[in-house]
Amino acid sequence: MKGVILAGGLGTRLYPLTKITNKHLLPLYDKPMIYYPLITMVKAGIKDIMIITGGNNAGDFIRLLQNGQEFGLTQLNYAYQEKEGGIAHALAIAENFVDKDKVLVILGDNIVEDDISAAVSDFETQKRGAKIFLKEIKTPKDYGVAEIKGGKIIGIEEKPKHPKSNLAVIGVYMYDSTVFDIVKQIKPSARGEMEITDVNNWYIQEGTLTYHILKGWWGDAGASVDALLETNNFIARKVKNEGPNHWWNWTAWKNSQ
Ligand code: DAU
Repeated sequence: MKGVILAGGLGTRLYPLTKITNKHLLPLYDKPMIYYPLITMVKAGIKDIMIITGGNNAGDFIRLLQNGQEFGLTQLNYAYQEKEGGIAHALAIAENFVDKDKVLVILGDNIVEDDISAAVSDFETQKRGAKIFLKEIKTPKDYGVAEIKGGKIIGIEEKPKHPKSNLAVIGVYMYDSTVFDIVKQIKPSARGEMEITDVNNWYIQEGTLTYHILKGWWGDAGASVDALLETNNFIARKVKNEGPNHWWNWTAWKNSQ
């Protein structure tokens, strides 16, 4: 399976922090934000990775991550999104890179505490379609929200005023290569973006969308300045309390590569 990390967008909800740099380069405790999805991916066994970024600071990603040696990689791929057309628009750029393979997509501002290896292995054996990750939260209205009936997702609404459940669709998704045909069919939403929720609803219609509910902590560090602070605090506590036992501990991670 290939891996794609999306690190474009303008990060306007974090202004002025993101006025002169890309959101995914901001610090989360002792590491830049982009390190976390990268570690999550490598830990799940995916080593063929593309980072898609945009805006003014694209070159900084190469300076920071180089060929991914610190993550146990020998090569990293980079691509540039020329306008902020939405998550599905950014993903479309990876078509040639993914080719006929499956793909794990992680939004660069989504931080997950769980090791997702088991769900990734599950999807390796899924014949076709997609698999998404859900997390039960108190106020899901700022996210994609899934409605489940009889153990199946029957619909996803993007930032609904009246959410039909407490299950947020988080920014970690797995697709087979049909995703690149689907992104070509969807139209921009009212906010002018090509929505990943429309892509996921397409798989629901086809009957090929499965899901995994996360047990551990999840943070969307780019949602607001408060979310950024909360994510920083959670990571700091975790790393201090668990020391080298947790894979967010940078020294322990580097030594294990
Ligand atoms: O965090 C999870 C949520 O992410 C999901 O629950 C929603 O269904 C999904 O639409 C998304 O919502 P956001 O409105 O929070 O997405 P945002 O615009 O913050 O973009 C998320 C990431 O995607 C961000 O880290 C940068 C990347 N991105 C975004 C856009 C709009 C790109 O790479 N290119 C883009 O054009």
